[in-house]
Amino acid sequence: MRHVQCNGARLCLRDVTEADVSALHAVYGDPAATRFMPFGALTSEQVGALVKEALEAAEDEPRRLYVFAVEDSDHHEVIGVARLHVETDLPHSAEIGLGLRPDQWGRGMGTDLIRLLLSFGFKQLGLHRVWGARSPDNLPAQLAMLTAGMVEEGRIRHHLPTPDGWRDSIVHSALEDEWTDR
Ligand SMILES: CC(C)(COP(=O)(O)OP(=O)(O)OC[C@H]1O[C@@H](n2cnc3c(N)ncnc32)[C@H](O)[C@@H]1OP(=O)(O)O)[C@@H](O)C(=O)NCCC(=O)NCCS
Repeated sequence: MRHVQCNGARLCLRDVTEADVSALHAVYGDPAATRFMPFGALTSEQVGALVKEALEAAEDEPRRLYVFAVEDSDHHEVIGVARLHVETDLPHSAEIGLGLRPDQWGRGMGTDLIRLLLSFGFKQLGLHRVWGARSPDNLPAQLAMLTAGMVEEGRIRHHLPTPDGWRDSIVHSALEDEWTDR
């Protein structure tokens, strides 16, 4: 799917562009926002490289990677970033990730964003399973995923290498039939 635009009540998702590097750096360059990510705060150049990779991957056929600028619906200001990655060997399934600028936290936006990603994955991409992995210590992500309907599945031990050593992940998922029933 090309040129994604996905509108919710408070948030919109659209494909990232090179003009979004600075807005994305406000998330990926922030130590609080990257505290539970497997990498430390990124430089603007590193974010630029991520955006370049995302633009190249968006041309793949079939498309597997969607990297979105998250805009607030009122002002169309970019307040976060989200990604959805369809698994190569299991194309019914995709992993999501997300981050909002810290000044936007605590107002239900993270929960709304997860709901929007699930809606995009199930309704527009026809996926069966959408999952996300979080740090065991990431309480806001845990609560946002649970509230959005992503069931806690279990722990992957030593899932990711980080600068501080191996990190376990807690996996959450939503299934299309359960999600439709909600
Ligand atoms: C995870 C994240 C997107 C959540 O966004 P948010 O807009 O703050 O989340 P919400 O306002 O929707 O809150 C979700 C839940 O967490 C709770 N919460 C939010 N911040 C909290 C905090 N600091 N401590 C405890 N609970 C918190 C809310 O009360 C809410 O719980 P409820 O559903 O029971 O009411 C945001 O914290 C973020 O961008 N973090 C940095 C990146 C990150 O960790 N991404 C997740 C990777 S898996």
